Amino acid sequence: MRLLIKGGTVVDPVAGSLAESDVLVENGVITRVGRGIAAPGAKVIEAGGKLVAPGLIDMHVHLREPGHEAKETVETGCRAAVRGGFTAVACMPNTSPVADSRAVIRYILERAREAGLARVYPVGALTRGSGGEELSEMADLKEAGAVALSDDGRPVANPGVMRRAMQYAGMLGLPVISHCEDPDLADGGVMNEGYTATRLGLKGIPGAAEEVMVARDIILAGLTGCRLHIAHVSTAGSVRLIREAKARGIPVTAEVTPHHFTLTDRAVEGYDTSTKVNPPLRGEADVAAIREALADGTIDVIATDHAPHTPEEKDVEYDRAPFGMVGLETAVGLVWTELVAGGVISPARAIAMMTVNPASVLGLEAGLLAPGSAADITVIDPELEERVDPDTFYSKGRNTPFAGRLLKGLPVMTMVGGKIVYRR
Ligand code: DOR
Ligand code: ZN
Repeated sequence: MRLLIKGGTVVDPVAGSLAESDVLVENGVITRVGRGIAAPGAKVIEAGGKLVAPGLIDMHVHLREPGHEAKETVETGCRAAVRGGFTAVACMPNTSPVADSRAVIRYILERAREAGLARVYPVGALTRGSGGEELSEMADLKEAGAVALSDDGRPVANPGVMRRAMQYAGMLGLPVISHCEDPDLADGGVMNEGYTATRLGLKGIPGAAEEVMVARDIILAGLTGCRLHIAHVSTAGSVRLIREAKARGIPVTAEVTPHHFTLTDRAVEGYDTSTKVNPPLRGEADVAAIREALADGTIDVIATDHAPHTPEEKDVEYDRAPFGMVGLETAVGLVWTELVAGGVISPARAIAMMTVNPASVLGLEAGLLAPGSAADITVIDPELEERVDPDTFYSKGRNTPFAGRLLKGLPVMTMVGGKIVYRR
């Protein structure tokens, strides 16, 4: 099977360059990249005016299976992923049961194989049941296929447990992905602490709830030598701590979600529960600091924290709704509209933050568009515009605060291992 992607602008996220090139795919592998490739008999995909990028990787999604199949399944999550331009996702372990055993990791991988769409890399639980007390069977999880360890959705409150978890994870060479939230400071809050929360009569979560834990985990990464990845950074204070830790040579990386670089807590004003997310949407100064950190390299990765919930669960008072919003099918459009067209980052840097950078955090051989690599490819049309319509989502989740927003720059083809798994 030969496929020629012709006349597109190939993005090299490592060199940081764009060049007009053809890409030849044979038997699922990229065999040539260059100008004017002649490939008689190959199926031709015209890509003039489009960006041809290595397959995008979203290292933070909630696929909900096993246990919460009404919100999402591995299959529906993978459909949403490929529609959103992602050829691979890493899925968080807060399923039911929690992904703290070989059996659950294998189950997820089996479901992903059956779906045959995006590649799925499970993240194993850091502690048993993500209860924050006993360490999980980390070596077993790694052997079963876990690429990282996390109790995402919940903090590891006890610093002694976090220290030991990092020691073991470090010995196994697995990164720890930290959900940074001090439970006593968060104290049941439902949105960002500040003027808007006071006006709306909603209980706030201070930025300090995140920053105290970012500081603690950076100190523990220094102590243990374990690779630490900070999930969903939301405050200017966290950005400062990460920037300083990197300058000191601490092995820390960090991610930001599209909602945290796009929206402020003012979005909560209509009490729309799709704006309820953890960590919460923050203030203007936080969004500005995050955008600066995306541009200067303090932030390594853009990840969605795709967190589908059912309409029944979200259609309640703000206080009672679960935290989380979907993200897979709006991420590329938001990155292009807000960051690339907005002049915050270059197209190549945007692609790096969704390809080679997450691949490097997770130790994956992915994210490159070069001869010899698996043909995982995302084609983006930078001129294509569309309004977000949740009814068109392939995800089961409809919980997005971006409904009706006009996005420009959207994925039009997604290829995994040489197979076209999505085409507009
Ligand atoms: O908003 C969130 N939703 N934040 C998390 O950390 C967990 C996630 C979920 O699982 O719904
Ligand atoms: Zn999450």
